[in-house]
Parts: sequence; structure tokens; C-alpha cells
Amino acid sequence: MDRNLALEFVRVTEAAAIASARWVGRGEKKKADGAAVDAMRQRFNLVDFKGTVVIGEGAKDEAPMLYTGEKVGTGRGPEMDLAIDPLECTDSVANGRYNAIAVIAAGPKDSLLHAPDTYMEKIAVGHKARKAISLDASVRENLKGVARALDKKVSDLTVMVLDRDRHEKLIDDIRSAGARVRLITDGDVSAAIATCFPESGVDVYMGIGGSTEGVLAAVALKVMGGEIICRFKPRKDEDIPKIKAAGVADLRRIFNSEDMAKGHELSFTATGVIDGPLLSGVVFEKDKIITHSVVTRGISGTIRYITTHHHSYKW
Ligand code: FBP
Repeated sequence: MDRNLALEFVRVTEAAAIASARWVGRGEKKKADGAAVDAMRQRFNLVDFKGTVVIGEGAKDEAPMLYTGEKVGTGRGPEMDLAIDPLECTDSVANGRYNAIAVIAAGPKDSLLHAPDTYMEKIAVGHKARKAISLDASVRENLKGVARALDKKVSDLTVMVLDRDRHEKLIDDIRSAGARVRLITDGDVSAAIATCFPESGVDVYMGIGGSTEGVLAAVALKVMGGEIICRFKPRKDEDIPKIKAAGVADLRRIFNSEDMAKGHELSFTATGVIDGPLLSGVVFEKDKIITHSVVTRGISGTIRYITTHHHSYKW
């Protein structure tokens, strides 16, 4: 992917993050999401490329903007498929809780798994432990393997998990294996990617979360050299035909990052809305707004952190 286009996408996630950050703690999740969607779409349409949203805000009849299949960009320049989440963690923003980001994952046509919006079981780790995980192994076996790969004791591992009733057994299993658990209310894209950065303190992400979030994380982990493995876990029976329509004949199939994000011409861009394990959130000052972003391209593998000071009067 063109390096300038990757930087253009930072402007797009910055705009979405700033727009939604205005809604932090106001109890208005739809307005927070709507602000991010509006800003992301508007900015995309200033960028010279031919984008197709393959994972977006929903089907055309459910989402007026950034719906699956919508074309964005000026229509001049390279053709790209986009998996986006203008606001990953609407509840965190509405309630002013930890961890929310604006995200774009991009790749050439047909490079990204067109996952429908349901659940997946997931395990994610950073580079050193990428060969140590299996969805068919027990939690204890996985944690032993990861600890060995990281040259740590299992008791030194931290596993991030979404705080959900469905994870009660998973949490018990992690604890009885001897590792530590960090529960988060939302945001498993950041949690999965955080495993690639030792300074995040997160060694493993485990649990059941959104499938579209699985694809977003897969792009980043692939580029950063980590691994995420996922298996569809339909939220309800009606999700099964949608999964099959996406070309997944066997629901037990396990996807790794390469299956979900093919090739190397990929990019991942995110801007923090509220502080989380990956990025700090938007800071509003008198004359400026400060944003924190990460951008990475598959071709170079460079991970670039960008702190931007925006003049307040322009926003
Ligand atoms: P939203 O952006 O849709 O609010 O998703 C937040 C999130 O926490 C994801 O990070 C996660 O994959 C998913 O929700 C988990 O779904 P659920 O809240 O149904 O457990």
C-alpha cells in the first residue's frame, strides 16, 4: 500500500476520534458513534483512492453511512478494500470508561475476510509466542506454551479478557492455570494488538468477541508479526447462514491472521479516543487538540506512532 495513503488514513481516524471524543461521558452512544461515522466518511471522501467498505457499519438498509459495499474516496487512485470501525467501543465513550479507538484496516481487493457481524472465539499473542497458541488446546496448555515462548513463568503472564458472564469459566481456567487476569469492559481490538507491545503489560488476549473486530485486529497483528487465531461462534442461529454466505462452509474452521488478512499490502491505522492498552485518548486544550495514533504498513512493517497537535479553531 502506498505510504502516503497510509498517512492520509491517519487524518481520517484522527477526525473520527476527535468528533466522538466530544461525546465522552455524555451517555449518548448513538450520537458518539454518529459523530465518528460522519467525520470518517467526510474525510475519506477527500482522499484520492477508490475504497470499498467490506466491513462497516452494517448492511445498507441498516446503516445510512459507511455501510458494507459503500464506495468512498475521490475515485482517483488505488483500489482498496476497507474494514472500518469509526468508533470501536461506543459504550466506553458514552460512559466515559477505559479504551476506545477509531480504526481503519485496508488492503487490496479481496484481501480481507468479509466477516459478518457475529462472535468469534479468539486468542492473540505477540511475535515470540505466535506459534504457541491453539483453539483446540486447553487454556492451561496455551498459557504454558506462551510462557515458554516468552521465557516467563505462567504466574507472570497477564491475560486480557472482556468482562462478560460468558467468560466465567475462561477466567476460572486462567486463574487456576496460575496466570493473572485483566478484565476490560470493552475493546478487544486494542487488547489483541497490545500483546505485540511488551510495555503494554498484556501477554495474551483470550475470549469471545465481535467477529468484525477479529478481522481488524488480524490486520494489525499480521503486520506487527504477532498472531490471532479465531473461530466463528454464532451469536444466534440466524447468523449461521450469514457466515456461510461469507464463504465459510465449516463453522469449526480456525482462521489465523493470514486467512483473515491476505498478503502484505495491508495497512492498519488507529487513533485513541479514550486511553486504552494501545493508545492514549484525545486531549482537548484551550487552543489545541492532541491526538495519538498508530499507523503500520505490511510492506515495510514499520510501526509509526503519531502525536498530532491540531489547532482548536479548525475543529
Ligand atoms: P462496539 O464498538 O460495537 O461498541 O464493540 C465493543 C466491543 O467491546 C468489541 O471490542 C468486542 O469485540 C465486542 O464489543 C464484544 O461484544 P459484546 O459487547 O456483545 O460482548
